[in-house]
Amino acid sequence: MVTVRHTEPDAAIRVEAVSRILARAAVTALRAPSIWNTQPWRWRIEHDVAVLRADRRRQLDPIDPEGRLLTVSCGAALHHACVALAAEGAAVVVDRLPRDDDPDLLATLRYAGRLQPSSPAQRLRHAIQARRTDRRPFDVRPVPEHIADRLRAAARHAGADMHLVRPQDLTAVAVAAGHAAAAERADPAYRAELDRWTGARLAAGEGVPHDTTAAVGARPVPIRDFTGVDEGPSIYSGAEPVDRAASYGVIVTDVDEPAAWLVAGEALSAVLLTATAERLATSAMSDLVEVRSARDLLRRMLGDVAHPVIGVRIGVPAPGALPPHSPRRPAAETVEVVGELMVDG
Ligand SMILES: Cc1cc2nc3c(=O)[nH]c(=O)nc-3n(C[C@H](O)[C@H](O)[C@H](O)COP(=O)(O)O)c2cc1C
Repeated sequence: MVTVRHTEPDAAIRVEAVSRILARAAVTALRAPSIWNTQPWRWRIEHDVAVLRADRRRQLDPIDPEGRLLTVSCGAALHHACVALAAEGAAVVVDRLPRDDDPDLLATLRYAGRLQPSSPAQRLRHAIQARRTDRRPFDVRPVPEHIADRLRAAARHAGADMHLVRPQDLTAVAVAAGHAAAAERADPAYRAELDRWTGARLAAGEGVPHDTTAAVGARPVPIRDFTGVDEGPSIYSGAEPVDRAASYGVIVTDVDEPAAWLVAGEALSAVLLTATAERLATSAMSDLVEVRSARDLLRRMLGDVAHPVIGVRIGVPAPGALPPHSPRRPAAETVEVVGELMVDG
């Protein structure tokens, strides 16, 4: 057996057909959203099993010391892979966090035969290609209620709940976001990390490019400022408010531990892809939970009964060109396939 990078066109290595199906899904999963586009995962495919591991070298210590957002990102990649497999008609058995003594081993997917590709799976598979984070202020039309219900159902189907923020709770979310922004802006380690992931890291097909970001502007709930210094015009300064029709969801779990974070990432992916399939625009908001006091505030808003894992902003996209897709690392860096060396003669 030899290990090959996914894209090595080496004719002397034979890869099983089942491994190729799993590898294609792992490559598709590269399009998953991740915190600051860190893409903190690795796939290894051997025979009929794909193994998903966390890549801790990509963990963002200033905002994610426990690896919560890293694990959520890997959960999103796991869900993307499962969507790709379902759309291709491949059944898999997923085992989450299968070993206590190996915390970086997040999931295994074992091929379990053919199934009829369903059209919902194919819709979500198309949404993988279409989805991108849209941080622009949304259109003035609100998210239709029946679609919001569908998004909640998608989260639940993936194993977590999405709490839709009620108008009377919007102030709590705004205060949490503003508080997190001020605390992070004042932290030199945060600014240095942000600088790397919006600058030097871009050359490697990772990080957040400037043309995918948007000015904070006078929004009821401020979004993350990727410049790290721009406080933006507050809605209290008399500036014309924008983004007033945005809806906010919070993915919540019963417990605050890695297995729940992974499932929350799957639910996040399910919500984002379902929204995209419904022609809605989205942007994840983890700033709401990165700072302890902001997370506590959200938890109180949720009645102290659930753990907020990540926020998501949802709306009707504004007219005009959609933001560009952000780049991805080469597949060969994240997907390894074990193949068989073919010997002539
Ligand atoms: C766990 C997680 C946290 C994120 N947090 C934020 C955030 O706070 N603000 C933001 O604008 N985007 C956030 N994003 C979106 C990522 O920046 C985005 O997915 C990544 O840059 C790749 O771009 P794409 O979604 O357009 O493919 C987050 C995504 C994930 C998965």
